[in-house]
Amino acid sequence: SSQYEFILTSRPEPGVTLITLNRPKVLNALCSPLFVELNKAVVEADNDDSVGAIVLTGSERAFAAGADIREMKDKEYADVYKNNFLESWQDLTKTRKPIIAAVSGYALGGGCELALMCDIILASPTAKFGQPEINLGVIPGGGGSQRLTNAIGKSRAMELILTGRTFTAQEAEKWGMVSRVVGEGEGEVVKEAVAVAKEISSKGKIAVQAAKEVVNAAYELNLAEGLRFERRIFHGLFATKDQKEGMTAFAEKRKAQFTNS
Ligand code: CAA
Repeated sequence: SSQYEFILTSRPEPGVTLITLNRPKVLNALCSPLFVELNKAVVEADNDDSVGAIVLTGSERAFAAGADIREMKDKEYADVYKNNFLESWQDLTKTRKPIIAAVSGYALGGGCELALMCDIILASPTAKFGQPEINLGVIPGGGGSQRLTNAIGKSRAMELILTGRTFTAQEAEKWGMVSRVVGEGEGEVVKEAVAVAKEISSKGKIAVQAAKEVVNAAYELNLAEGLRFERRIFHGLFATKDQKEGMTAFAEKRKAQFTNS
């Protein structure tokens, strides 16, 4: 919609918000105002009861080619430290609803990190991931050293971050960083991500939120704490109407009508 300068938002299916990064001339380089808009659009979708899941995408050529190097070039330590530069990027991870990244083309540096902040990554065969910050005299600053390492393991993450070499959609799939490589063809990855988002949107929203919360806890808690957390959240769902409806519908051999309550 026209309320934003650097992103587009739309509703391709009922229950699905599609956010498209829109700085085509610079391959969706992630400048600070873009992230302000992105965070705003995500919070809006998160607070909209009619939305069940969010899809985040870029263009065919680039999901995002990284943080905006022109914006960063002349920054001084005092600025970046005082303003905690890039800290606000992770606001995205506080979203309660699932976010699916649909990645085509370059997803480099901050672009790769942005995809890794999402809950599911679907990749086009054209996707090209990487953490090339080492070539700029810096290191990943948007979570890459932690999330990429969690996603693909230490040895691979170390090699990629130290050499800056890019990796393909097929490699990302083999290593478990993306859930699937979809068929080629323009718009295919967005179509598929929207279909997944639509399916998630048809489930009970309380259970979806709980499921996202417990899976993400696997990256923060040890096994005993994580299992206890999962069980408590599971127990809590027995206080919802959706649990009664879901299990009654199964017993009555009909489709559940969730009311998100
Ligand atoms: N920041 C600012 N501008 C960028 C950019 C970025 N990250 N990536 C691309 N652009 C701009 C280019 O400067 C160019 O602009 P002009 O036409 O005005 O010169 C335009 O986008 C098109 O790019 P190219 O002409 O370079 O296109 P290409 O097809 O030859 O190459 C590319 C594509 C390999 C992606 C190349 O653009 C590139 O290497 N980009 C930088 C990638 C990078 O280093 N990303 C990491 C950034 S640091 C970071 O992200 C820190 C962090 O951890 C958060």
